Amino acid sequence: MRLLGDNPLMRDDLVIDPLDKRPDLAPMVWQLSYVWPTYMTQDPVSHFYFTTVERDHPEHVLVAYEAARPDVPVARAFTVPFEFGTAQRSSLPDDGWDAVIRWGALDLSLGRTPTHVSALEIAIRPERRGEGLAAVLLAAMRDNVQRLGFTELFAPVRPTGKANELHTPMSEYAFRTRDDGLPADPWLRVHVRAGGEIVRVCPRAMVISGSLVEWREWTGLPFDRTGDVEVPGALVPIHCSVEHDHAVYVEPGVWVRHRLS
Ligand SMILES: CC(C)(COP(=O)(O)OP(=O)(O)OC[C@H]1O[C@@H](n2cnc3c(N)ncnc32)[C@H](O)[C@@H]1OP(=O)(O)O)[C@@H](O)C(=O)NCCC(=O)NCCS
Repeated sequence: MRLLGDNPLMRDDLVIDPLDKRPDLAPMVWQLSYVWPTYMTQDPVSHFYFTTVERDHPEHVLVAYEAARPDVPVARAFTVPFEFGTAQRSSLPDDGWDAVIRWGALDLSLGRTPTHVSALEIAIRPERRGEGLAAVLLAAMRDNVQRLGFTELFAPVRPTGKANELHTPMSEYAFRTRDDGLPADPWLRVHVRAGGEIVRVCPRAMVISGSLVEWREWTGLPFDRTGDVEVPGALVPIHCSVEHDHAVYVEPGVWVRHRLS
């Protein structure tokens, strides 16, 4: 199956398949897990999602590979479906990524019909970055969500450039624009150019906590002083308490809405 049909972003050299059509490609999806720093893989909510997605939502997983090298993954993308617009879920949640995974899991176990989809991740193999593939994967994600019958896609976007400005509040960073009116952040720019609208900040999109021994293992940093710790790749500093032997990373995100029809 080929996503992107007649979309002008379609590239002949790249194939993008959903796992429900090609379950045999699942190992290639997991081969790309190494792109995240270890600490980013310690969120228990994420762990739940990645452990169950192949069984519960293979249609929400995309894998891209070169037509000429079908055994080498180039990129992957994940989404999650959930019910939205009810009295309890009338606005996009402060706990972006973690919330939509919990909502999706709860809905599945209670037999509720999902009405919306949230993007969770697009990751490109490091040696294939900088070629414009982010827009291609996002277009394929949007097409896939439409294929599944949904008309709206939300995304608790993780603005990649924020890692260079740890101390800037996300509420300021996310709304910074260039002279052409597009977001200054490269990843938010890809979303907006694809048709997404920035809605608001989700201040605690993902929360990762651990003992100081765990944080030292995950990062190789000392975590030996109480206060903020700067960890490469993080979007804000990590709060460390030596007295209480724990550190907590509260990662903010930015809600983006894509209307698909
Ligand atoms: C975020 C990611 C998907 C972007 O893909 P990419 O291949 O690096 O980026 P692209 O080549 O498609 O370029 C997208 C935009 O980012 C800009 N960009 C690319 N690399 C950049 C860099 N190192 N610094 C600043 N801007 C950069 C491009 O200029 C482009 O903007 P433009 O179209 O306005 O010129 C990719 O870097 C990645 O997989 N990162 C790790 C996982 C991740 O953070 N995913 C996103 C959150 S889920």
